[in-house]
Amino acid sequence: MSNIDYSEKIPNNVNLSEDRTLQRALEQWQPNYLSWWQDMGPDGSQDFDVYLRTAVSVDPEGWAQFGHVKMPDYRWGIFLNPAEKDRKIHFGDHMGEAAWQDVPGEYRANLRRIIVTQGDTEPASVEQQRHLGLTCPSQYDLRNLFQVNVEEGRHLWAMVYLLHKYFGKDGREEGEALLERRSGNEDNPRILQAFNEATPDWLSFFMFTYFTDRDGKFQLCALAESSFDPLARTTKFMLTEEAHHMFVGESGVGRVIQRTCQAMNELKTDDPAKLRAAGVIDLPLIQRYLNFHFSVTIDLFGADESSNAATFYSTGLKGRYEEGKRVDDHQLRGQTYKVLNVVNGQLVEKEVPMLNALNEVLRDDYIKDSMAGVGRWNKLIEKAGIPLRLTTPHKAFHRNIGALSGVKVSPDGRVMSESEWAAKVNEWLPSDEDRAYVHSLMGRVVEPGKFANWIAPPVMGINRQPVNFEYVRFN
Ligand SMILES: [Fe+2]
Ligand SMILES: [Fe+2]
Repeated sequence: MSNIDYSEKIPNNVNLSEDRTLQRALEQWQPNYLSWWQDMGPDGSQDFDVYLRTAVSVDPEGWAQFGHVKMPDYRWGIFLNPAEKDRKIHFGDHMGEAAWQDVPGEYRANLRRIIVTQGDTEPASVEQQRHLGLTCPSQYDLRNLFQVNVEEGRHLWAMVYLLHKYFGKDGREEGEALLERRSGNEDNPRILQAFNEATPDWLSFFMFTYFTDRDGKFQLCALAESSFDPLARTTKFMLTEEAHHMFVGESGVGRVIQRTCQAMNELKTDDPAKLRAAGVIDLPLIQRYLNFHFSVTIDLFGADESSNAATFYSTGLKGRYEEGKRVDDHQLRGQTYKVLNVVNGQLVEKEVPMLNALNEVLRDDYIKDSMAGVGRWNKLIEKAGIPLRLTTPHKAFHRNIGALSGVKVSPDGRVMSESEWAAKVNEWLPSDEDRAYVHSLMGRVVEPGKFANWIAPPVMGINRQPVNFEYVRFN
């Protein structure tokens, strides 16, 4: 591989060609990445020409260049947002000091762990979604899936760049391990549980990109505040791409809802059986998928009380969402925050030191943001004249991490016995029957401008192209 000019092959704004050590490290990693992509990237689609957005620089003209590309030839680049002159640390014990351009020895292990945990989610989602291309509801959607996939690949590159550049041999080993773990694998799973769940159908994909990519947004926002400047600059650029992933989710679920409402009005029914006979996805089923993806995703923020979260904040490694816009002392000592606890089988609020509750603070910010989009889905239902409304479940519902994991709670927040839960769970989470029904709808629609029966077309195409544009050329 030594004859490849990596400064050309890998678009970058980090002066790759001037750093021989880094270049060599990436030269060794790249073929392993490509073979991971061959094995675990989009199934059966490697030869398609896909209308993709590629970042070739971080400025407004460069970050979104569109054209047909074969996915394995996608130019996965390395980009950091421009440096802010004399950037200062703006929270924690080092507040006011200059931001770090290198990794301080005492924080090396924690920073590495943070970067590896973030990095691990990127290839994980590609693995989770790898079969979806075979059952796409349209070319437009197929293209969006592949766009998300190649950008998650680029996010892996972004994290591996940091590991190679700043963490020496340890970092290179972590870079290899990121290609070795596999989503859902019993022996060597991905680090976080939501990234080991299957994404078996397109409704799951849209819910995943709405809810779980939004977790990505909040994690990246917290890291964009980091005192370790290269991490802050890398994650800031990743956020520009993340917005599209959440758009795919929000508009995808919205289009499913629109199609369902249309059928409900045509057939004058809200009976799930009749709607299923008509080949659309009933709203209660959509609510159950929502409940599942919401609850699995809020677990990703970690335990409600966490001394690690306090350490990451105080040492300046990870800030809060929009840290820079907040008007408190950015130290948080002596402050408190309310978390939910279970006492004698009841949910009780408990005041704990704010520093220990920072996972919960981020989770609550996330919940607020998630609810906004659910409100926009409800507007679609309202516009169709249908009374039902979707809701996000109570945050204690179906939790597997933290104090709430030991208790069964309904979507509206009632604590209940195991037997009551078991009797009701199929009303609240997707049942085998629901999943089998959604699965039965998944067939491949690839004729330009055609859409599967269960989803409405989008209002607009990608990059101002028409909806019936040839987004994917099959070879
Ligand atoms: Fe990502
Ligand atoms: Fe994403």
